[in-house]
Amino acid sequence: MFRLAVLGSGTGSNYQAIQDAVGRGEIPAQVVGVFCNVAGAGILARAEAAGVPARLIPSRGIAAPEARQRYDAELAERIADLEVDLVVLAGWMRLLSAEFVARFSGRLVNIHPSLLPAFPGLRVHESVLAYGCKVSGCTVHFVSEEMDAGPIIAQACVPVFHSDTPESLANRVHGAEHKLYPWVVRQIALGAVRLRGRVVEVDAELPPFCVPAS
Ligand code: GRF
Repeated sequence: MFRLAVLGSGTGSNYQAIQDAVGRGEIPAQVVGVFCNVAGAGILARAEAAGVPARLIPSRGIAAPEARQRYDAELAERIADLEVDLVVLAGWMRLLSAEFVARFSGRLVNIHPSLLPAFPGLRVHESVLAYGCKVSGCTVHFVSEEMDAGPIIAQACVPVFHSDTPESLANRVHGAEHKLYPWVVRQIALGAVRLRGRVVEVDAELPPFCVPAS
């Protein structure tokens, strides 16, 4: 069975969407561990409720380069212990070291709430609205050393309305994320995703939520 580890720092709604899809048999995989760096984060309770081993490795105050290296090495060891096939970042709000990224290269994915390469980083929805974009969305990508810049696996888009606030846009994008991420993880588990240089090929018909209206 294809083995997933999920890393998150927040509410864990993307983890939940993946866990639910696994539960419904839509992803031929099992979540063997959830890792969290923030005490009390919602993702921990969600993992517990799903009966998935959850591990808190607090990162607060760990900022010096050497301490960060040690933190990432410990995290990488704990993940490797579980012999995972894919590491899924789902709201993991901490930059990972080059060593960590290299160790899980090609087996490490992230979701970002914009249509990359537009609007990497934080405060995405505020920036999208301030720029006057008419379309936004979300991107699932392989993780590379540079933040939010790895090879794109799939994207889904949503409209932006004049009346939107950062919150209303975030909610709409979240809805798209909850469809896109389980679909991508399913394709990876099925072996349908190939990385060719910086371009990713997915050997599957695109689902309706990935196809912009024409
Ligand atoms: C999502 O918007 C994701 O794109 C970003 O962090 C957020 C996590 O949300 N990387 P949740 O914890 O999955 O609800």
